Amino acid sequence: MVTEAEHVLGIPAQVFTCVLSYTFLLIVAAAVFVVWYIRDSLKVDDIDKKHVFVTGCDSGFGNLVAKQLDRQGFHVIAACLTESGSTDLRTAASPRLKTVLLNVTDSASIERAVEMVRRETGERGLYGLINNAGRSIPIGPTEWMQPEDFRKVMDVNLMGLIEVTLKFLPLLKKAKGRVVNVASILGRLALVGGGYCLSKWGVECFSDSLRRDMRHFGIKVSIIEPGFFKTAVTRLDLIEADLQRLWDRLPSDIRNSYGPKYLEEYNKAQSFSMNILCSSDISKVTSCMQHALTAKHPRTRYGAGWDAKLFWIPLSYLPAFIGDFVVDVLLPTPKQC
Ligand SMILES: *[C@@H]1O[C@H](CO)[C@@H](O)[C@H](O)[C@H]1NC(C)=O
Repeated sequence: MVTEAEHVLGIPAQVFTCVLSYTFLLIVAAAVFVVWYIRDSLKVDDIDKKHVFVTGCDSGFGNLVAKQLDRQGFHVIAACLTESGSTDLRTAASPRLKTVLLNVTDSASIERAVEMVRRETGERGLYGLINNAGRSIPIGPTEWMQPEDFRKVMDVNLMGLIEVTLKFLPLLKKAKGRVVNVASILGRLALVGGGYCLSKWGVECFSDSLRRDMRHFGIKVSIIEPGFFKTAVTRLDLIEADLQRLWDRLPSDIRNSYGPKYLEEYNKAQSFSMNILCSSDISKVTSCMQHALTAKHPRTRYGAGWDAKLFWIPLSYLPAFIGDFVVDVLLPTPKQC
């Protein structure tokens, strides 16, 4: 028997309470999101009085973000590895943008760049440092590598980034500035051998300790984790040419254990996945960099690209055997296995 008292607005009381509590939870969640969204949208002032130093501006993310920040009114100092990269960028930007030649594996070259930035920024100090310079090659099966193959990539992507950051810290402290480090989803998931994933895991780690140590001085640190994008880092012609070099120098017993067709199958699988995965809209990455510099409250981590946000980063939280399975699906199996 159901009595009148157990009904509210003609609905059984239990159902009514349940609906009410779910509605309440939904309202709380929506309110939290709105507060987060507003906080995330707040911007810093005086962009025209701020200097930003970007590494790796010859092409790709660095080249595009330098132009975008220049258009936004920042004083951009764009570091390029090559003279031609630097000339092309100056032609495409406003006269405010300055370029400097920088090889992040060469201490003297870093010191020259710091000296130039010190002169440019004067009493203001450096507001933003975007550590973007990176390389991927040699990249491929671990057994095909020699220690120097790891070192080539680690020297640029990790040791270079660390040295650049350390040498700019005094200027960044002066401006209570920001560091934006380009890591990768491969800094969370080691999908391929060679120095690239190692270096990007290192960038994640260095950035976390830097953030925790320097927050007391007002320095903010953000990490960008791009998925797969069409840049020099994912250029298949260069990756395949270098894989051929690694394959050709393998002792024949190792090569035999993979089978004669392995390199060809590997290249085919790699180009198939890269063609599906690589997005040409690199502005997805540069808009994260811009947010990290212009937001009052920059985020700690930015996943850039749908593949990073919806697939790779969630996968990095799952048990390792699921990642192992994904790699097994993507890459061919050696003959002897
Ligand atoms: C960068 O500097 C290193 C160390 O000084 C040197 O070996 C390398 O050739 C340089 N790279 C370029 C592209 O100049």
